[in-house]
Amino acid sequence: MTEKDFIPSEYTKLIAKGEVTWKSPSNIALVKYWGKEANQIPANPSISFTLDTCATTTKVTYKKLENKAQDFSFDLFFEGSLKEDFKPKIQTFFKRIEDYLPFLKNYHFKIETSNSFPHSSGIASSASGLSALALALMSLEKELNPDINEDYFIKKASFLARLGSGSAARSIEGDVVQWGNHEGTTNSSNLYAVKYPYKVHTNFKKYQDTILLVDKGQKEVSSTVGHNLMHGHPFSQQRFAQAHDNLTKLKEVFAEGDLKTFIEIVESEALTLHAMMMTSLPYFVLMKPNTLEIINKIWDFRKRTNTHVCFTLDAGANVHVLYPESEKEEIMQFIKDELVAFCQNGQYICDQIGFGAKKV
Ligand code: PMV
Repeated sequence: MTEKDFIPSEYTKLIAKGEVTWKSPSNIALVKYWGKEANQIPANPSISFTLDTCATTTKVTYKKLENKAQDFSFDLFFEGSLKEDFKPKIQTFFKRIEDYLPFLKNYHFKIETSNSFPHSSGIASSASGLSALALALMSLEKELNPDINEDYFIKKASFLARLGSGSAARSIEGDVVQWGNHEGTTNSSNLYAVKYPYKVHTNFKKYQDTILLVDKGQKEVSSTVGHNLMHGHPFSQQRFAQAHDNLTKLKEVFAEGDLKTFIEIVESEALTLHAMMMTSLPYFVLMKPNTLEIINKIWDFRKRTNTHVCFTLDAGANVHVLYPESEKEEIMQFIKDELVAFCQNGQYICDQIGFGAKKV
């Protein structure tokens, strides 16, 4: 499919009003997306586990305007309060998707959104938030054009979410999700994410993710700035090639349930993401001393116990601790005994693989 396939033909009718609510999860990348071209086209393919507990619920109430407005008309409520400072992000999102949803200026939207995880926990809400909003807008599009089928609905929701925040494309459907052209993956696309189409061994069923909140502050570097630092980065081409290789390797790992190689790829990806930031200009260190303490404790515990605990990182100091469900008891005890002490106010979130967004 191409971008043009997502431009609808004229609607025959515009309905007067309605409302719709979607709950959409966050996701954690195993092979990281870092670097992009114009229109949120990723510089390399990425793959993620969809999360279950960490999610955004967004209700969109829409009312048709008498005449098409000059600009987008919407109010944004976050956890019950009107949030003027969130509006520019939505305004930019609407502008980017306007060609694909030409009804946007015909409606006034009331957007009411809330997160299951604490605000300013350092957990990015852009993936869950923008995917929930994209899905709500797709529900309205389906009202206007009931012929839209399930496959198109899902692909276009991911396509729209991508234009809001790249990683949001991976929060629509499925437990393991891939986004970005990759030679070894049929149907992969830079325009939208797809459910990982190959075998995933039962070792990865209900895979656990305990998120350790090391630093709950605002992001030091916005994703946009971060992605742009990959332009002219001395190691960018090798990094993009490495992401392709890691995805190829993961195919066998997922099929065989090879946890040892899984750990190797996932930890290397996390450290490479941070290495890219340390070696860009300007350069950034986004880990905190406690991030490193946790990483060392995880390595030490894994060696001592032969368990399969490992870590991954986002573009920040928090640590996602990943492990198979079969080792949950032992590893949760380790987390409580040895890792929670390094979390800000002892805070952490227990999550696991989930299966995508749901209409509420
Ligand atoms: O979706 P963005 O533009 O906020 O980028 C997210 C990038 C990482 O979270 C660091 C990696 C990823 O693939 O999710």
